[in-house]
Amino acid sequence: MKIVCLLGSPREKGNSATIANHFCTTAEKFGAEIKTFVLNNLEYRGCQGCMVCKTRLDKCVLEDDLTEVLEAVRATDVLVLASPVYFWDISSQLKAFIDRTFSYLVPDFITNPVKSRLEPGKKLVFILAQNNPDRSSFPDIFPKFDYFFKAYGFVECHLIRAYGVNKPGEVQHHEDVMRLVEETAERLCNR
Ligand SMILES: Cc1cc2nc3c(=O)[nH]c(=O)nc-3n(C[C@H](O)[C@H](O)[C@H](O)COP(=O)(O)O)c2cc1C
Repeated sequence: MKIVCLLGSPREKGNSATIANHFCTTAEKFGAEIKTFVLNNLEYRGCQGCMVCKTRLDKCVLEDDLTEVLEAVRATDVLVLASPVYFWDISSQLKAFIDRTFSYLVPDFITNPVKSRLEPGKKLVFILAQNNPDRSSFPDIFPKFDYFFKAYGFVECHLIRAYGVNKPGEVQHHEDVMRLVEETAERLCNR
């Protein structure tokens, strides 16, 4: 099983990265092959809205560090997206990647029931870390991305959230989160 992991925090040892890396090392024990990209270390632009991916090409026309990432996601079985909550949403690093996934949509995606250029059946693990300890806060973040990744043909989207975390890596002491990470990795890899 192939896993592509995108770290969306500028803090490489931050909480979202700690969760994502724990997911990947657990999955590795079950035989998964992992490719991790630290988005903050890459040079890339957001979607330019040029529509070349809807008119002339079946991929994004931009050639930058996201080109390899977008190709790796095409080939993966599981995609891990990890982000801090910034201003009630995902980080700009991850949002710019997601905007570029517009290139996965077929030209007539609004009317075509098959909207995606991706092979169907992929799985998503969506990781969020936030300082706010309130578990009912920011309920709108995940459903948006769940909706779009289902449109891309993903069949399962799992959410793992850490609440009340701020200091880099402190989530490793949140046993409930770490256990959910391990259970999710085992469930996805053991099928
Ligand atoms: C620019 C910025 C905006 C933030 N906005 C929020 C927010 O809206 N809600 C929240 O609960 N925490 C917010 N935080 C705190 C982070 O979500 C928290 O520190 C989290 O653990 C960071 O994840 P990381 O360790 O993966 O970088 C913000 C932090 C920064 C630097």
